[in-house]
Amino acid sequence: MLAFLLLLVTTGCLGGDVTSKFAIKQHWDNNFEGSFCFHLTSNLVGYEIFISFDSGVKELQQWEAEWVGSHPPCATKYTMVNKESKGVHSKGEDLCIRFMGKMCTGATPSGSATLKDLTDDHQKVPDIPHVNGAQSTKYNYGEVLEKSILFYEAQRSGKLPKNNRIPWRADSALGDKGDTGEDLTGGWYDAGDNVKFNFPMAWSTTVLTWGLIKWKDAYEKSGQLDYMYDSIRWPMDYLMKCHSKPNELYVQVGDGGTDHGSWTSPERMTGNRPAFKITTSQGGADVGLETAAALAAGSIAFKTKDAAYSRKLLAQAKSIYGFARKTKDRYSDTVNAAAAYYKSNNITDELGWGALWMYKATGDKSYIAEAEKHHEPGAAWGFSWDEKTAGVNMLLYEVTKKDIYKQDIIATMKSWMPGGDLPYTPKCLAFRLVWGALRYASNTALIALMAADQGINPVPYRKWAMSQINYALGDAGRSYVVGFGKNPPQRPHHRASSCPLLPAPCSWGAQQNPGPNPHTLYGALVGGPGSSDNYADDRKDYTKNEVACDYNAGFQSTVAGLLHLSIKHQLPTEYKSICSNRG
Ligand SMILES: *[C@@H]1O[C@H](CO)[C@@H](O)[C@H](O)[C@H]1NC(C)=O
Repeated sequence: MLAFLLLLVTTGCLGGDVTSKFAIKQHWDNNFEGSFCFHLTSNLVGYEIFISFDSGVKELQQWEAEWVGSHPPCATKYTMVNKESKGVHSKGEDLCIRFMGKMCTGATPSGSATLKDLTDDHQKVPDIPHVNGAQSTKYNYGEVLEKSILFYEAQRSGKLPKNNRIPWRADSALGDKGDTGEDLTGGWYDAGDNVKFNFPMAWSTTVLTWGLIKWKDAYEKSGQLDYMYDSIRWPMDYLMKCHSKPNELYVQVGDGGTDHGSWTSPERMTGNRPAFKITTSQGGADVGLETAAALAAGSIAFKTKDAAYSRKLLAQAKSIYGFARKTKDRYSDTVNAAAAYYKSNNITDELGWGALWMYKATGDKSYIAEAEKHHEPGAAWGFSWDEKTAGVNMLLYEVTKKDIYKQDIIATMKSWMPGGDLPYTPKCLAFRLVWGALRYASNTALIALMAADQGINPVPYRKWAMSQINYALGDAGRSYVVGFGKNPPQRPHHRASSCPLLPAPCSWGAQQNPGPNPHTLYGALVGGPGSSDNYADDRKDYTKNEVACDYNAGFQSTVAGLLHLSIKHQLPTEYKSICSNRG
């Protein structure tokens, strides 16, 4: 009885909308049935379809997608969006939708359906020319800076400004607030998740700002200086909001368990985002001191750019520092919600680090004496959001020029460089840990460049820093930076960039999608290879494919250092020899 009616299959280049015409025949009484198809010329992870009839229809049904909005009886326009589990389609496939409905008039309806691709965001990233007059380099470090800054822009939480450059991001988490309604919007999402963890966020801010203060010419000459100021201002504004009262500091917004138990973009989040704070009685010296360090560093960076903002940062840094010094606790012992994700091991390093940044911002020598009290001698394990000893010893040497601190730095570098304590991959990556190996190597590369800057073994340290950064940029045969260089990762473990554009739904289907993330998360350094340079671009493997604010921080600052050296014609012209001595 049901005579099937086919219509046109339309081929179109997606990216633009594609329209398919259909015709309808009445089959029985006033019922009709029809279908339309789109021949896909590119992969799809989400779509919307707009159906338009030339006369009103009612009780329209289809089984492939979800209706969007409410459609009054006898409407002529209907909109649908893919179901969460049915958004992914491959190039070459015919995407067909069968529908049934009832006519409202005696006329047989005809019309068309338009497919809107919610996959491609059309993001364009300008080319960055090599810096004029600088040494030529194997990789365009200015382009890396540009893209790394874009990565931080993609991590923004809160109300986005008009000059947002990430077309697939929008306002999110506008309800983030403290216990008594304090505004806690803003800041950066931590990694591939949507929690705001202030401890690593503040460390990332300090380390990025350190690189800007040291090697401002790299940002200036690559045209990135204003973007960089905007980049670090974002978390600084948020961290200041978190200091809601003289003796309290919010240190986390969002619950890790709830957040990691779902897979969606920040814009689609629903549900409660609890905020967690430290107080004098429920303390956290480490996170307080790191926050003070970030704002103190900011006050230095903004001194000539925006003097009023610089003063505000310094006043807040002093207030937070004073409050943090009243407590001796590790924050993750009092804020249980942080313990499973960013557990702090020891506050001794932050006692030195916070004091040294306060010294650099104020010139008050009592802070140096304070930092020296917390000196931890010998080789450091590394340099990270939790372990700042290498950075402390670096700054102690910079401000005192005492040989004991220089010996600590030499010990750390000896332990890290070929022939030292760390295993190396066959292609010369210092392999500290499988979870985010590239980030540890990049962070120690920053210490190496800072030490070289202070005249400590500059040639080998610079060569080694180059070997580690260039490994990530392509020396291992591929790039480990999303959207940069040869064969970059396309499937970072990152919720927002894995989701199609709104209004398509996004959940675990986006994580399981075998294809690339629909959005290129430009500039993100992924965790990196295993110990034998083994790597698979697999979204589900977070040890190798997660990205995070702290991963890019030391990396970006080191790249700024290398660009600075090329501008000054001090970059080693050869660096591979540094690898020949490894065990
Ligand atoms: C932290 O480190 C210091 C110095 O290395 C050490 O004396 C102290 O016992 C450590 N504290 C904890 C809680 O591990």
